Amino acid sequence: MSVKVQIRPYNPNLDTAALLPLWQAALGDAWPMRADLLRRQLTEHRFYRGDDHLVAVADGRIVGFVGTQVDRWEGLPDQKRGGGISVVVVHPDWQRRGIGTRLHEAALAQLRCEGVQELRLGGGGAYRFWPGIPTDIPEAYEFFAACGWPLDPEQRSCDLVRDLADYHTPSAMHARLAQENVSVRPARQDEVDDVLAFEFEHFPGWAAGFVYMAELGDFQNMLVALDAEKGIVGTLMLHTPSSRWLTANITWKTLLDNALGGISAVGVAARERGRGIGMVAVGSEVLRERGVGNCHIDWTRIVDFYGKLGYTVWREYWMSTRTLA
Ligand SMILES: CC(C)(COP(=O)(O)OP(=O)(O)OC[C@H]1O[C@@H](n2cnc3c(N)ncnc32)[C@H](O)[C@@H]1OP(=O)(O)O)[C@@H](O)C(=O)NCCC(=O)NCCS
Repeated sequence: MSVKVQIRPYNPNLDTAALLPLWQAALGDAWPMRADLLRRQLTEHRFYRGDDHLVAVADGRIVGFVGTQVDRWEGLPDQKRGGGISVVVVHPDWQRRGIGTRLHEAALAQLRCEGVQELRLGGGGAYRFWPGIPTDIPEAYEFFAACGWPLDPEQRSCDLVRDLADYHTPSAMHARLAQENVSVRPARQDEVDDVLAFEFEHFPGWAAGFVYMAELGDFQNMLVALDAEKGIVGTLMLHTPSSRWLTANITWKTLLDNALGGISAVGVAARERGRGIGMVAVGSEVLRERGVGNCHIDWTRIVDFYGKLGYTVWREYWMSTRTLA
């Protein structure tokens, strides 16, 4: 049954109070949200522009919402502009009346206006709720499939979690690092330029994230592996409850507690792999010392690698991308 629905841009000043109960009604069982986290993820960052998110209004109240992301990193290597749908949510009383479809269409039109060509569900480097579509919401899979997204139930990625309370780095790992003449520690402020140069050379897809971290003043959250002769041979990002950047690693405090931290963008230079540079091990240790409880590693498929340190699968996601003509 079709209903009279108006789609308009989301206004953070006027609409946030209505969005939280809408989210809780539709998603709160599996993915409970909090007002501060919602605001920080959606609008309280410099990548947000006023038309990014849209609401559906029916009978004078907000009954649906769609969030979009546009990759607005500066200084990225030449590539097609990416963007995505971060979330679509329709109040349970209003579902199956075409409102989700209309929000989705309006979001795609908006992304097209922004010049987005490579489109994804979830994901995105700057601010995201999930890497893809959570597999604990099967109706979302059906919805996006109906909206034309290529989906394969086997195409999955996952988040991992480990409680750091009992975490200790295996002593063999420290011995191996000493033997390799490599030290792993948080970066100093005067090393930030070297970290950024390393990212641009070895992991250009993550470079903009490191630049953003530096811009926010969170250089102490860059962990570096330093070879005594070669300099930086590996890096990763740490996330703690006091991180200025609300990455997806530390968004789900409602499920994983306020002491939530995380690790992301783990990279060892290709020619240095196999040396046993235990950056995740040391990173976990640093986070425990900084008071982190649960440590979250998002958007990965290499479960066995992290499994050696006690990380286990927390939640899974279906992944999908498409080109926006
Ligand atoms: C997913 C969601 C946004 C869909 O909104 P909606 O307004 O009900 O969607 P529509 O009415 O436009 O549905 C379009 C088509 O999607 C499919 N679909 C939607 N919900 C479905 C469900 N629960 N089960 C199976 N198929 C479904 C159907 O093919 C439907 O067409 P039909 O009703 O003619 O059969 C809504 O169910 C919701 O808010 N769920 C909770 C939040 C969520 O999971 N969001 C996705 C994560 S980003």
